[in-house]
Amino acid sequence: MKNKLETTKKIALAEIKKADSFDGLEKIRIKYLGRKSELTDVLRGLKDLSNEKKKEVGELANKTREEIEDSIKYQVLSIKQRELSGLDEKERIDITYPGEKIEAGHLHPITQTRYMIEEIFKSMGFLVVEDREVEDEFHNFDALNMPQNHPARDMQDTFFLKSGAVPRTQTSSVQIRYMEKNKPPLKIVSSGRVYRNENADTTHGFNFHQVECLMADKAGKITISNFKSVLSEFMKGLFGKNVKIRLRPSYFPFVEPGFETDVSCPYCNGKGCRICKNSGWIELGGSGMVNQKVFTSVGLPEDEYEGFAFGFGIERLAMIKFGIDDLRLFYSGDLRFLEQF
Ligand code: PHE
Repeated sequence: MKNKLETTKKIALAEIKKADSFDGLEKIRIKYLGRKSELTDVLRGLKDLSNEKKKEVGELANKTREEIEDSIKYQVLSIKQRELSGLDEKERIDITYPGEKIEAGHLHPITQTRYMIEEIFKSMGFLVVEDREVEDEFHNFDALNMPQNHPARDMQDTFFLKSGAVPRTQTSSVQIRYMEKNKPPLKIVSSGRVYRNENADTTHGFNFHQVECLMADKAGKITISNFKSVLSEFMKGLFGKNVKIRLRPSYFPFVEPGFETDVSCPYCNGKGCRICKNSGWIELGGSGMVNQKVFTSVGLPEDEYEGFAFGFGIERLAMIKFGIDDLRLFYSGDLRFLEQF
């Protein structure tokens, strides 16, 4: 009996070692440990043996079963191992193969500039507001003291839709929209697209962006020095601590007095260079103290409020910020250009 079990075990272990699939192993398990196996027979026959024999044969049979089971477990692992390393070989990664760069998109430089501007104004307690791009003549012109046949209407070549609506020529319309619903005190900033019927060149487009700022309060509370300090903070936030501002008298119907607004060239610190065309200064756009006619056009009483406003081209600001000399590049869709931001 002892010898027989010993021989069976040897044969079983040899077969297990040769098995190279889980199926094959399972067949071997059934053959040597299953219900009809020799080992099971021996264990079943134990009850007919004397106590002494029972113990001896029982121990041996159990030990044999354990050895066969262990050997099967071990073989399962080694088949798995073999399969895994086979996979490795097939799907091995060649770490010397040149990589492929994944390009991440980003915001357009004009959008980036808009967000920067908004952040600067938010830090000064301004509210960012938005309004429609397609306006009516009242909000784009009349309410801004530019009634029909006013010569100032010629300052802005205007597109008209068939319906008579106006793709806004200036973000100043947002001043009107906002004050129709809100009385001063107010501090707002608004940026967005405007449209002008112009031929595009290096510094003009028929579609561009403006940023409009309006601050108003009870008469006597807001002066030109408030205006200059807000403007100066804005310019420093965008172009750096060293820039200065300059106001030149100018005319816009909705401000009185009105100014052309300049910033010292951040590239040469006002000494004169290619960017500022050797003048040391760069023109930003219009500004001034709000004309009382603007307040009355939204139903506010005359002389009760005062404030300042300005409206600058964002493309212009972005050109200065990034040192670009042709505005058309922004809209060329040329990735070699856009990827630099
Ligand atoms: N809206 C004017 C323009 O587009 C700029 C401006 C805004 C001037 C606010 C004065 C005050 O030219």
